[in-house]
Amino acid sequence: MCGIFAYLNYRVPRTRKEIFETLVNGLQRLEYRGYDSAGVAVDGPNKTTDINGNSICLIKKQGKVKALDEELHKKDSLNLEEELSTHFGLAHTRWATHGEPSALNSHPHRSDKNNEFVVIHNGIITNYKELKEYLINKGYEFESETDTEVIPKLIKYVYDNRDNENVTFSTLVERVIKQLEGAFALVFKSRHFPGEAVSTRRGSPLLIGVRSDQEILNNIHVMYGSGHLKDGEKEKNQHNSPDDATQEVKEVEYFFASDASAIIEHTNKVLYLEDDDVAVVTKGVLSIHRVNRQAGEDPVRAIQTLQIELQHIMKGNFEAFMQKEIFEQPESVVNTMRGRICFDSNNVVLGGLKDHLKEIKRCRRLIMIGCGTSFHAALATRQILEELTELPVMVELASDFLDRITPVFRDDVCFFISQSGETADTLMALRYCKERGALTVGVTNTVGSTICRETACGVHINAGPEIGVASTKAYTSQFVALIMFGLMMSEDRLSLQKRRLDIMAGLKDLPDLIKKVLLLDDGIKTIANELYEQKSLLVMGRGFNYATCLEGALKIKEITYMHSEGILAGELKHGPLALVDKDMPVIMIIMKDGCYTKCQNALQQVAARSGRPIIICCQDDPEITKSAYQTIALPQTVDCLQAILSVIPLQLLSFHLAVLRGYDVDCPRNLAKSVTVE
Ligand code: F6R
Repeated sequence: MCGIFAYLNYRVPRTRKEIFETLVNGLQRLEYRGYDSAGVAVDGPNKTTDINGNSICLIKKQGKVKALDEELHKKDSLNLEEELSTHFGLAHTRWATHGEPSALNSHPHRSDKNNEFVVIHNGIITNYKELKEYLINKGYEFESETDTEVIPKLIKYVYDNRDNENVTFSTLVERVIKQLEGAFALVFKSRHFPGEAVSTRRGSPLLIGVRSDQEILNNIHVMYGSGHLKDGEKEKNQHNSPDDATQEVKEVEYFFASDASAIIEHTNKVLYLEDDDVAVVTKGVLSIHRVNRQAGEDPVRAIQTLQIELQHIMKGNFEAFMQKEIFEQPESVVNTMRGRICFDSNNVVLGGLKDHLKEIKRCRRLIMIGCGTSFHAALATRQILEELTELPVMVELASDFLDRITPVFRDDVCFFISQSGETADTLMALRYCKERGALTVGVTNTVGSTICRETACGVHINAGPEIGVASTKAYTSQFVALIMFGLMMSEDRLSLQKRRLDIMAGLKDLPDLIKKVLLLDDGIKTIANELYEQKSLLVMGRGFNYATCLEGALKIKEITYMHSEGILAGELKHGPLALVDKDMPVIMIIMKDGCYTKCQNALQQVAARSGRPIIICCQDDPEITKSAYQTIALPQTVDCLQAILSVIPLQLLSFHLAVLRGYDVDCPRNLAKSVTVE
């Protein structure tokens, strides 16, 4: 996971203090990707200049970005007011995988005590043990327990063994990544190449934002070849298009980041790197290098315009991003439907799928693949998708799907559901299905993400940036997107028209109904006050609401650290009933749908064991609302959409429980938003 941010100002004078502010600000936007430790690398002040005329300072701190920020403010020795006309700084926020959270294991990592090369990394190097052993045998000394540290050591090794060859910085990096296995996004800085930046990626996301008054924002033509220069030869063809070859760059800034949220406040012009691209900035000019051109590869990297706005990633008046995102759901579901549903003609068109619709209709089965909350979104919609598509629908956890080496065929259609679009397990499953010839469909919230780019077609859920680690609005938008897919598939099925009309009417009312559910927040806070000291919380339901139970329990455990289990009410007497007694808090979801009577039976079984359930039910259900039980009564909608409403009280409950227990809602321990490691 981890968040990468780097900032290069070319002929744009900035004090070291301003540079720190930009770096720290970038890290704060990315903190949701990991917050075990943070660090920066900047050029040292003039007075500490030593060999090569340059020095690099590393400042690292265990804990959140705030701790690093405080540390930087104390660094008077760094001459904070010194103005640097051209400078390149690196920053990193870490989610520990190899090696405990500590300042030593923090990035940037360095090649040696003189900091000749420093690197920030997101991903995992799977062959690091072999590389480390090799480098140790060559006399290189390691100081951390991380996999990353082999990278700066390796680049120094390549540099030290260049045999008087006049290698460029990008060539060194090209040679390094040839030796690396695993996933990475990397940004390098070096004392040997002052003011130059080199970045690359394979499997982990990385984009570059460009800010300049000059018209240098053409698409970038990739340069192929080994980048091997003869002695004395200058690097050729480094301009970003043939037309730019004579252009002198006056002032430009570049922002390198793991995702757009760290870039958008500086510029909306960005370029997404492809796997194995090596992007270099030399004398203010960005160029992209690759060793070989793959068959069918586009040799141009487009500079794109980001559509998100800064206000979408700010917390506003809310206590936490998660809370803001829960309350955004009336709008986020509208954004998922916007321009895709015509309520007058009852027509649904998902632009990203329409060209593949015939193929999808002919398929043997649909396979929905995701992790965590995204998996729950698939589970929540399986029943209605089976009904509307009349196809078998398999719902799979990506990791388990891969562990089982699940048979996949050319006539399967595989959906990859992922908020971030970067989850490693889901991405691996996507590549696995692609290799077997299945049609791949992405359902993501992140434009330009790897899953989005590697799938044959897809749907953007358009929920807007989700910053809170606990997923909320992405879940309801994934849900709506999958329902819309079902509606699109069933458009010409006469027997399903009545059902379709009911669902369309339900979708039309959905934003208002969500607003009504959000009004229950105070009552839910009161319930949280009664429950927050408990150790466990069970959530039971069945049918359309089984996934709600799993999702509610996941929210509770991930941010409150309470034990919580989502239980299929049909399984109650096959084991879980043993947990129920007068002290065990139980939340039961009993909606007026096909499972109503069966859910009431489960209620009786819980009551007979002296359980005291809190019931999430329909407002128009006097039998329950007038009973002695505590209830959270929701407006009623179509059975297959009801779970969009029933999950919201559980999102709110988990939020209040976490606040009452004194935890940081947006940064739950041990977790990160974007899980780019398997
Ligand atoms: C839970 C949560 C995770 C993610 C999971 C998949 O609140 O956010 O369970 O749903 O890590 O992430 P994406 O959807 O980005 O693939």
